[in-house]
Amino acid sequence: MVPQWIIEQKRDGKALGEADIRAFIDGYTKGDIPDYQMAALAMAIYFQGMSAHEVSVLTDAMMRSGDLVDTSTIPLPKADKHSTGGIGDKVSLILAPLVACCGVAVPMLSGRGLGITGGTLDKLESIPGYRTDLEIDAFLGVLNQCGCSIIGQTTSLAPADKKLYALRDVTGTVPSIPLIAASIMSKKLAEGMDALVLDVKWGSGAFMKTPELATELAKTMVSIGKDAGKGMAAVVTDMNQPLGRTAGNALEVRETIETLRGEGPADLVQITIELSAHMLTLTGVEPDLDAARSRLADVLASGQAFEKFKEMVKLQGGDTAVIDDPTRLPAASHQVPCPTPAEGVVAGADAEAIGRACIALGAGRRRVEDNVDHAVGITDIVKIGEHVSEGQPMAIIHADSYEAIEEAKPFVEQAFWVSSYSVVPPDLIGKVII
Ligand code: URA
Repeated sequence: MVPQWIIEQKRDGKALGEADIRAFIDGYTKGDIPDYQMAALAMAIYFQGMSAHEVSVLTDAMMRSGDLVDTSTIPLPKADKHSTGGIGDKVSLILAPLVACCGVAVPMLSGRGLGITGGTLDKLESIPGYRTDLEIDAFLGVLNQCGCSIIGQTTSLAPADKKLYALRDVTGTVPSIPLIAASIMSKKLAEGMDALVLDVKWGSGAFMKTPELATELAKTMVSIGKDAGKGMAAVVTDMNQPLGRTAGNALEVRETIETLRGEGPADLVQITIELSAHMLTLTGVEPDLDAARSRLADVLASGQAFEKFKEMVKLQGGDTAVIDDPTRLPAASHQVPCPTPAEGVVAGADAEAIGRACIALGAGRRRVEDNVDHAVGITDIVKIGEHVSEGQPMAIIHADSYEAIEEAKPFVEQAFWVSSYSVVPPDLIGKVII
């Protein structure tokens, strides 16, 4: 295999053969193919794209570059959910225990926030003691005991993706649908689940800025998963406004606890039940989506999912006293309301601006190696279609310094606009691709 011939082939718009894709990824993972040749191939893929078959082979090669989690000792159907990332997206924290209560194991390997989007691991680490760095054996132990476990990606899973993602980040080759799809799916397929539900977000607070692009990414990932023999569904969802009413790590854990106690905001409950319902039908635990939705709503209302969340937190070393009493979670020293300039109806929102405010506060990262401040963020976020009176807060900033408030406030102030006409809230749930 001569790497430059493969690069030339893709540069000229030709399809790559299976053996060539596998040899290239293998050579890159072992260090035999240098970064500059991998970067050139990534750029050729960026411009020329890949066929569905090429993307499936690329994903499989990246998945097989490291260990695969063997979940065969878990005597339950196994399903996971992956979101392409957004603002205020705490769905995984509610969904994992909720689905586990219905007899489906949820092995979930999650990520940290980067850029404007938040990360499940950062949220969980605001619970004192919670360990996201369990080894795979311990992860399987938690799964066997309580049916769900959420940890971070280990270094031995899909190492080709780790290397390639870092390279794409600095070579302008991140926003390529084949490369994003292969990157996400190589990690997910290494988890050893039977079914995967994807929440593919579009809008100002998402990677994909239009529903058309989100649909294309969703179709590509569903096709990869089906080729690998997995039950697949992708739901295209709106991320133009934050999900729920909070953004920021401990603040989102607080909203998670409220939701698990049956007091969650309507949009967060709706999306969690919808994604969970697909997990129950894909694994055959419920015959159809309506039956699944109604069972999930009952389980959430019963408090069983709350108890399951507590069990998972305890098994992973977390302090369950904060789950019983969320006022014990890390809290910021200042709370500053951002009042609406006029009475009216919230006509639009810019989730990206709220994401930027979170970064300014220190809830998110500017660089991969940054630490996050678990206490800070935004709460009491208004929703499109709601009426606001003059002076009423559009959101409340939680900050640990005056400088951070000064930096974050302009973003929050420009994140919402008000109309004197009534406004119909946008549909949260869009197309479903199966
Ligand atoms: N998330 C990933 O894991 N990979 C990408 O390429 C983009 C988002």
